[in-house]
Amino acid sequence: MKIVIASDHGGINIRKEIVSLLEEMKVEYEDIGCSCDTSVDYPDYALPVAEKVSNGDADRGILICGTGIGMSIAANKVEGIRCALVHDTFSARATREHNDSNVLAMGERVIGPGLARDIVKIWLGTPFEGGRHKVRVDKISNIEKEYSSN
Ligand code: RB5
Repeated sequence: MKIVIASDHGGINIRKEIVSLLEEMKVEYEDIGCSCDTSVDYPDYALPVAEKVSNGDADRGILICGTGIGMSIAANKVEGIRCALVHDTFSARATREHNDSNVLAMGERVIGPGLARDIVKIWLGTPFEGGRHKVRVDKISNIEKEYSSN
């Protein structure tokens, strides 16, 4: 599995923590920044992560900003992206089992590094349940198709 990860200035510390975790877990990853402490615009980092997951360059994406909200809104504009904003371990598991989320968003101003690590471990390790949940995820894809053709 290959992960692509990015943050804005509000998510740098958690991003570094998660990069360390991916190293420990020996998970392949691409870290696309941001590299600075100055203010950047989160859509500029959400977009390349979402595109890489959408086009198959990466299997999953992880995005961190101050709240995780801006990153998740931006990522969900890209075709095929199901980005889940997660700040607890129950939701980390549920969004993989039920939503087949392919991008995870978190907020560094909301949770600490320990919880972020637990969320990522669970999110990476939990398979999609399929079945009735696939029917629902397919309905999301149908909404996307309907609105992109208009
Ligand atoms: C940046 O100040 C902040 O707006 C951003 O990190 C994020 O929280 C947006 O949703």
